[in-house]
Amino acid sequence: MATTTTSSRPAAGRMAAVNEMTRLLRLLFEVEREFLRTVTTLVYRVGEPELKYLICTHAWESAGHGRFIRERGRELSSFGTHDNVRPEIRNVFEEAVGTNTDDPLVLTAGFYGVLKPALLAAYKHYLKVTDPLADWPSKKLVEEFILDEERHLREIEPYLKGVDARAWQSHLTQALDDLGGWLGNETRLPLAASFVWQHEQKPFSHPATCNRGKYPVCSGVFGFDPTEDPIVRPWLTDPNTDARVIRLMVYVWLMMEMDAIDYLATVFYDTPAAPFDLHFDLARHLWDESRHSQFGFRQLPKLGVDLMTVEHSLDLYNILVQMPPHERYALMTMEFEAGSFPTKAHVMDRVRELNDFEADTLLAFDRNDEQNHVRYGHRWLPEIMALFGETRPTEEFVKATQEKFKTFAEIYGGKTPHSLPKEKRLTGDKILKLAGVN
Ligand SMILES: [Fe+2]
Ligand SMILES: [Fe+2]
Repeated sequence: MATTTTSSRPAAGRMAAVNEMTRLLRLLFEVEREFLRTVTTLVYRVGEPELKYLICTHAWESAGHGRFIRERGRELSSFGTHDNVRPEIRNVFEEAVGTNTDDPLVLTAGFYGVLKPALLAAYKHYLKVTDPLADWPSKKLVEEFILDEERHLREIEPYLKGVDARAWQSHLTQALDDLGGWLGNETRLPLAASFVWQHEQKPFSHPATCNRGKYPVCSGVFGFDPTEDPIVRPWLTDPNTDARVIRLMVYVWLMMEMDAIDYLATVFYDTPAAPFDLHFDLARHLWDESRHSQFGFRQLPKLGVDLMTVEHSLDLYNILVQMPPHERYALMTMEFEAGSFPTKAHVMDRVRELNDFEADTLLAFDRNDEQNHVRYGHRWLPEIMALFGETRPTEEFVKATQEKFKTFAEIYGGKTPHSLPKEKRLTGDKILKLAGVN
């Protein structure tokens, strides 16, 4: 009988060693891509900006792992040409997303205390069972990824101190044990009859507003009244505005890209059927925005600004989350980003008067990144529209979406009251003082 099987499928038998390792690589790819799709739901639910930034960085690195594994996998026979994730893997990640009412730090501890350590174990298993010479290319990648995964766990640790996530972690562990770990190489412990999949009871939906933790919030930071608003629109382009004032205002502007982080992060979860390359570019986009926001977050205190006086604007998230994902993405790339270049160019020229090399560098990289984001928009908007059955020509769709945004802004915008009275918060007038302009 054995002879018959071998001779009827000789290729399979001959390539068994490759096929087995490819099967594992395929699983690792699916885990990384599904991790990216779901871990991003934490971004707008956790409140601490540093934690948002960190998750964005890890999401980007996971996207990189996925891309490299897929590249290597495609060099091997039987990896497959599609990007789909099998339902049993998707199920565990879907569960880890939790619901809106769950504590976001507990959910973070689920991802980082159960799913990521299991991924690390899976990479270690791969390294153990692969032939170090025959499969050297995969081995080198996996060695790198193990270092990344170990660092991710270390980096998240300070944020999870004192978080009691034992019940949630044990729940997710059961879900994962049922699979025998991500690679199925561990003993399978079938689910108890009493196990209830929470996401089947209550599907996840994005919260109506994003979390900014201890920081004060408001609806918007752009305005015309220096006694009320930190970014006074006409001052940005007025040639008489002192360059030091412009520098402070643009740092506030950059820091507020935190709203881009929060609403862009919603798009991954909503597009499970997207090609992986779309999520890869979104992950890059997300990480870029998290760096832009850090430009402001790190530079403002150096210029004397107390971050507890800087209100975070929530309007863009609050409005966009009411619109479907392809409309969110269209507005972001075709309206907000594409439309920001002329003012930013002027701002950059003014800031250069200060001979502040660091500011010039940050703004130049911001501009370079933003040009890429608009390119991503042109590349992916038609595909993301197709995912949602949108058949109008792109231009017509973008125009209609801009109009819809105006209507939605009236309904869902302007609803977040100022956390701080104007005497306490950073305003244009305060910026004049901080800049030393009388
Ligand atoms: Fe940006
Ligand atoms: Fe951008």
